[in-house]
Amino acid sequence: MKDTELVGVQKTLSPVLRAKALDNRLPDPILGDEYAERVMRRLDPDYDKRRFGTSQMGLAAVVRAKAHDDWARSFLADHPDAVVLHLGCGLDARVYRIAPPATVDWYDLDYPPVVELRRRFLPPREHYTLIGSSVTDLTWLARIPRGRPVLMIAEGLVPYLIETDVRRLLTSVVDAFPSGQAQFDTVPVWAWRTSRWDPSLRRYGAQFHCGFNDPAALAGWHPRLEYVDEAPMNDSPVLMAKAPANVRRMYRLMNLLPGMKRSTRIVRFRF
Ligand SMILES: C[S@@+](CC[C@H](N)C(=O)[O-])C[C@H]1O[C@@H](n2cnc3c(N)ncnc32)[C@H](O)[C@@H]1O
Repeated sequence: MKDTELVGVQKTLSPVLRAKALDNRLPDPILGDEYAERVMRRLDPDYDKRRFGTSQMGLAAVVRAKAHDDWARSFLADHPDAVVLHLGCGLDARVYRIAPPATVDWYDLDYPPVVELRRRFLPPREHYTLIGSSVTDLTWLARIPRGRPVLMIAEGLVPYLIETDVRRLLTSVVDAFPSGQAQFDTVPVWAWRTSRWDPSLRRYGAQFHCGFNDPAALAGWHPRLEYVDEAPMNDSPVLMAKAPANVRRMYRLMNLLPGMKRSTRIVRFRF
């Protein structure tokens, strides 16, 4: 199976994976994800022959992944008995990057064709389960062990869902576990509204279905939910320190445009 057998939003996993693979070619990578390069070669046999030009603009997605990894590591250090729900996982190798202890049970969830690709490209692990399902069909939640702290990670997923589904997902997870952390990224309303004309989404036949100008306000969806903080992305010091000079210049210019600095917001909640 190639990524050509993925449809619509499932294809959006490719540019993120490619950004992670390209990062791994930097002399001092941000994420240093060898799996991303390995999987990218399987997905695109011509990967090593391609010229990538300005593709390293995708490095902001790598910064996003790093922020999610850092938050996840810190949560798991404090909660070694946690259950991890990594939703809309795509072909991301987070579980291998973080390599949680055997006391953690990790669930990677995405649509069945994506899960099928994962099975072919990425190795199995102990205490690791793949779930092939839409995240919005919440019957998958019944398969997760209860009574333990939960870490919900959704990287690059929430904007593709409608708001009602995001709310149902988040409140159901909070209701199902005694405590936990939810970390995900969102886009502002303008990015949602204009996404149908965004060429980087149109090429995959995908578009955003929700946006939030104040993601912290999502804490109001459940009495036990509390907003913690936000991680920088397009203006991240890591990006500015490690990206090649041409990429840094592009981001500095782009960040002068109103709204661009926060065109993606990486947020963390606890309960
Ligand atoms: C932009 S990609 C991000 C992939 C991965 N999280 C990463 O950062 O590399 C979005 C992913 O969300 C998945 N996705 C979108 N809507 C979904 C849904 N309703 N249920 C499950 N997965 C979904 C897609 O299949 C895709 O793998």
